[in-house]
Amino acid sequence: MDIRKHDFGTLYTGERVHLYELSNKKITLFLSTYGATWVALFLPDKNGKKEDILLGYPTLEGYTKNSPYFGVTVGRFANRIGKGAFVVDGTTYHLPINDGQNTLHGGYRGFDKRNWKARPFKTKDTVGVCFELYSPAGDEGFPGNLQAEVRYALTKDHRITCEYRAFVDAPCPVNLTNHAYFNLNGEGRGTILDHEVRLFASQVLEVDQNLLPTGKILSVTDKNHGAFDFTRPKPIGQDIQKIPGGYDHCYVVDGKEGTLRPVAEVYAPLSGRRMRVFSTQPGVQFYTGNFLRNEVGKKGSLYPQHGGFCLETQHFPDSPNRSEFPSAIFGPNRPYREEAYFQFSWES
Ligand code: GLA
Repeated sequence: MDIRKHDFGTLYTGERVHLYELSNKKITLFLSTYGATWVALFLPDKNGKKEDILLGYPTLEGYTKNSPYFGVTVGRFANRIGKGAFVVDGTTYHLPINDGQNTLHGGYRGFDKRNWKARPFKTKDTVGVCFELYSPAGDEGFPGNLQAEVRYALTKDHRITCEYRAFVDAPCPVNLTNHAYFNLNGEGRGTILDHEVRLFASQVLEVDQNLLPTGKILSVTDKNHGAFDFTRPKPIGQDIQKIPGGYDHCYVVDGKEGTLRPVAEVYAPLSGRRMRVFSTQPGVQFYTGNFLRNEVGKKGSLYPQHGGFCLETQHFPDSPNRSEFPSAIFGPNRPYREEAYFQFSWES
């Protein structure tokens, strides 16, 4: 297990951005302080060939420009808040509107666009980085002073573990997640439509045309002729035509929220790579890169529509405005604490 620090560039403010290289014998993960971002993940395939399976950019500039959230840590509130407003303790708070009529991923300058403080750490079986960010009261319209701590680590047994914590001194919606886009055949190698996905979710949130939850929780077999149903492994492309635009939906993870339980399993037959996802969160946003349109990525790679998929473990979108959803309001008496891990394996 090894960890190294590199320079990744300088922001217009003069702040230095660093890249941490974490490795065990088989896997190498690169993390950037800008956005607490997963920049690259090199993994063997069934022939032992190592490839990067994360969509992203070759330089810092790609990330500071208009990135579609490649690999970043999202906050204060991942996903959408309807009309950019919510009420806590009788006070209405307004957030920047950056997605139609709604707020997406924490506003204009969410946690993905901050340079986090980083502290590398090492234990017997892991190497990792503890990222810290202070967000003052009023930041992007949110109440309360918030201190976020996100620990990403690589383990000996090929897991990336994620620990998300936030302490906020006034009640505030909090929803932290990682927005990694994976292509298990290697970034830039076409689409992910052949990947076989299993979701440990028998329900999905219904959304309106702006992808905002209607409040209805559907059985995955209820609508679109079973296209939402991934309770048994199914190629992503099999029913995707039945979902206008593709999948961009929050599934309700089976089992008890707050307990680390299986969320998803993805297998790419071409490369023989497999990923398993576990999380404590109530939901997972399954997103199939619907908005990608030949985005220029690493070393000239082009990312077409469906060139990557995301499994964003999270609280339900718009939960601050939906009392029927599990509460995502945290505060002095309710610190935010969630966990997830991504386990990788490959045929050999
Ligand atoms: C999330 C959202 C999508 C899209 C992507 C980023 O997955 O649900 O609608 O905004 O982030 O493009």
